[in-house]
Amino acid sequence: MSGGPWWRDGVFYQIYPRSFATSMHASSTHGGVGDLRGVTARLDHLVWLGVDALWLSPFYRSPMRDFGYDVADHCDVDPRFGTLADFDALVAAAHARGLRVIVDWVPAHVSSDHPWFREARTGRASARRDWFVWADPGPGGAPPNNWRSTFTDGPAWTLDEATGQLYLHSFLPEQPDLAWANPQVRRAMHDVLRFWMARGVDGFRADVVHNVGKDPALTDVPADVAGLPYFMVNDQAVTHEYLREVRRVLDEFPGDRMMVGEVFLLDPERMAAYHGHGDELHLCFNFAAVFAPWSAARWRACIDRTAAVLGARDAWPTWVLSNHDLPRHRTRYGSEARARAAAVLLLTLRGTPFLYMGEELGLADAPIPPDRAVDPGGRDGCRAPLPWHGEAGHGWGPPTWLPFPPDAATRNVAELKRDATSILHLYRRLLAARRAAPSLRRGTFEWLPAPESVLAFRRSHEEDARLVLVNFGDDRVRVELPSPGVVEIASDGVGEGAVFEQFLGASQAVVLRQPTPAARR
Ligand code: NOJ
Repeated sequence: MSGGPWWRDGVFYQIYPRSFATSMHASSTHGGVGDLRGVTARLDHLVWLGVDALWLSPFYRSPMRDFGYDVADHCDVDPRFGTLADFDALVAAAHARGLRVIVDWVPAHVSSDHPWFREARTGRASARRDWFVWADPGPGGAPPNNWRSTFTDGPAWTLDEATGQLYLHSFLPEQPDLAWANPQVRRAMHDVLRFWMARGVDGFRADVVHNVGKDPALTDVPADVAGLPYFMVNDQAVTHEYLREVRRVLDEFPGDRMMVGEVFLLDPERMAAYHGHGDELHLCFNFAAVFAPWSAARWRACIDRTAAVLGARDAWPTWVLSNHDLPRHRTRYGSEARARAAAVLLLTLRGTPFLYMGEELGLADAPIPPDRAVDPGGRDGCRAPLPWHGEAGHGWGPPTWLPFPPDAATRNVAELKRDATSILHLYRRLLAARRAAPSLRRGTFEWLPAPESVLAFRRSHEEDARLVLVNFGDDRVRVELPSPGVVEIASDGVGEGAVFEQFLGASQAVVLRQPTPAARR
């Protein structure tokens, strides 16, 4: 693939290691949680699918109170997932297959079990005390301000009884926030990046990276947003300086290393600012798309706004429908037909797509009985283990840490691979089409006139062009095009290879191949 940098041209696939695959399916003691060797053993499946890069969610040493986003050692693999040697083998095997690998970097907080925090709480004079954010209690032990934490629905401050001060935690009390104002902290977190880049990773997904900077005055957030978790509101100018430093660390290494940031600010303009002027993040997740309901008007507005705010600073968009924090889009949109149409949209928009493992199977969230719930944020449903086949265990050793998604006996990798009409094959066809078509990877984007329930757009690059039509409605609809072209892909497979007959079925999406000028002559 030639053209732009790999992270603009390629498609990422998110692996949540606990639930992707296990190498210990025969063992009843460890086979219920995924591991790194399990990922390595399944790489050929991802090559068959046709993705370009893997993003591995955390596999670091952790007490798992936030399932790995509470890191106790940034530079080691948790024994549940394997060893550093397993990690090296995974990267080598991925690279040998032409797959890039990025890993999660969790810079804003650590686990309360991390040696840095253990040392910090030994006393106010501890050498690591100012690696964290501390405040004296107000009258009656009150927190210093109105900042809220996530998951606890309470203040973002917890009293450390031994030392009599409160520490800041944007998430669980077991996830104290690091004080990035302290240059020693920044240097330590830079060294984490260097550690993994030296081991060969191609880049990072940076967890709530906009939350590293903190208001030193600890000012209350405005009343209208005071009910929201602090991390959704926190947007400090100094964070941009910190990210320029981070970018310089990435640039120390050869080979186009990159960082995609989880900038969880719902205003796209604020998110866009974290690209800097090509000197901060390479990419940011575009969460506005995740929160857009299945509506042509809402998606059109989101696409336009994204193009406007990112275009203004020459930043490249990303598109994502699902991840490990949100209900899957198959569940949100309510039907497989819509999930199929959404896949066409995701993989043909202008920008880098991120797939979340299992969406290619059309998985819905697993129903979680109360006695199986484990996540403090109620996100277990989208984290259910991937069913690899229809037989007992589905490729896992019982009991799995979470129940399987619905219909695992039929909706699993092996079954859907056998069925050329399945959603899995639709993803594979879309990924192959995208790889083959410069217009889809990096072409221009232009809206075409279409009925209200339909989004219609043209992508073109030099002589290569595709038209994409997505029907968000539940009725068949006529779409008149001056020069329709041939159906290269249909979300339901119907009509592929034939001239487009100017009709879209309910929740149907198509990619049309336009004759090149040379072919028209
Ligand atoms: C965002 C991650 O995606 C989520 O899973 C985690 O709970 C929080 N950051 C805290 O690290």
